[in-house]
Amino acid sequence: MKKIMLFGGSGQLGHDIRNVFTGKEAFSIESLSSSDFNFNSSDNVEASLADKWPFDILINAMANSDIDRCDQDKDLAYRINHRAVEEMGDFCSKHNIPIYHFSTNDIFDGKNQSPYTETDQVNPISIYGASKLAGEQGLVEICEKHFIFRVSTYYGALAGAKNFILDTVGKAKNSAQTYAVSDQQICATHSLDIAKALLYFIENEVIEYGIYNCAAEGACSWFDLTSETFAIMGIDKTVEKKSYIEVPDNLERPVYSVLDMKKISKFYQMPTWQESLENYLRLLGLTKQIRN
Ligand SMILES: NC(=O)c1ccc[n+]([C@@H]2O[C@H](COP(=O)([O-])OP(=O)(O)OC[C@H]3O[C@@H](n4cnc5c(N)ncnc54)[C@H](OP(=O)(O)O)[C@@H]3O)[C@@H](O)[C@H]2O)c1
Repeated sequence: MKKIMLFGGSGQLGHDIRNVFTGKEAFSIESLSSSDFNFNSSDNVEASLADKWPFDILINAMANSDIDRCDQDKDLAYRINHRAVEEMGDFCSKHNIPIYHFSTNDIFDGKNQSPYTETDQVNPISIYGASKLAGEQGLVEICEKHFIFRVSTYYGALAGAKNFILDTVGKAKNSAQTYAVSDQQICATHSLDIAKALLYFIENEVIEYGIYNCAAEGACSWFDLTSETFAIMGIDKTVEKKSYIEVPDNLERPVYSVLDMKKISKFYQMPTWQESLENYLRLLGLTKQIRN
């Protein structure tokens, strides 16, 4: 049996990573949150990781993914998204074990007009994106056995977590009309689909280390995502199109966040964004009867 050490197990993605490994006889998983192991206060990460040794695989779903908080506290952003990742990579390298880490489309500036490949020019426009990029680059440098999965916008089933889909549905119930941004393009993905791709790589002992885009296939706008959610759920509401320029929250996000899935598809086929969404709503029991 292989032992997995999972950092960020209490987060949105961590929740689904724990789910996909539950009941797998070939693996045991120890999941850590900031209350078990806090990278802010740990000044000797190597010694703290050594306390957990031995383990066979390290998965890092830990991050400071709050874009506003990263802008306000650059040191914290780099501590968590850059240096902690390097420290984990250093430990894995010394112990010759693989590390599976998650990054983001926010390492790009969003000026592309076609899906970003793994080798496209990076140019983050936020502290969050810059700190995540530094983490990626450090890890590539330090640990040969690295997998970096770049993910884009996702939604999950973890109660209490920020969730565009459930927020939109909640708002729609309380108002006659709702709006959504139609001129920003994203790859909207259920986090369980990202966790399943990770599971595939680990179970099949893929050894082609490197950076992989990992998101649902296809591009959609927030308007497309909202309209498709309502269609699947059978909600009869008018959705008004807005430009991101009219919505302050969206101003600092890249306008184009679509990732190209050709590289990962040689190993694992990601679902389309519509399939990912329908399976998510089905899991939550939110699809209308006719499509069940
Ligand atoms: N959410 C998205 O749409 C999105 C998009 C692109 C990329 N990503 C990337 O996906 C990965 C997972 O993101 P997520 O949205 O699932 O994150 P999340 O829900 O915010 O969870 C973050 C996790 O990191 C842990 N953590 C934070 N600060 C820590 C510290 N100082 N010491 C130890 N643990 C700490 C948290 O523990 P506590 O629960 O104890 O605080 C939690 O388990 C990240 O690499 C993120 O950059 C996310």
